[in-house]
Amino acid sequence: MVKSSEPKIRGLRSLRMMMQAGKYNYCACGRTENNPFCDGSHYESTDIKPILVVFEFQQEVKWCDCRNSKNLPFCDHSHRNLPGNKPK
Ligand code: FES
Repeated sequence: MVKSSEPKIRGLRSLRMMMQAGKYNYCACGRTENNPFCDGSHYESTDIKPILVVFEFQQEVKWCDCRNSKNLPFCDHSHRNLPGNKPK
């Protein structure tokens, strides 16, 4: 089976979440069932690896949900330029 190197777009908005201090594996492939965190789904269908994120303290995070950010795993508003996005 040929593995895809393209991430799957999950949403066209950021995922804003309050995160506790700790380590998280962000799903960079977009195929997880536990969005935005890796659940191992990438092993079967893509060569894309999760991104380890470490927070030293509690903070609000805007996760990228379109997987097109230039600042993964965080939103840089690249979703605004993707097909299907509606201007506000
Ligand atoms: S499931 Fe997407 S990176 Fe692991």
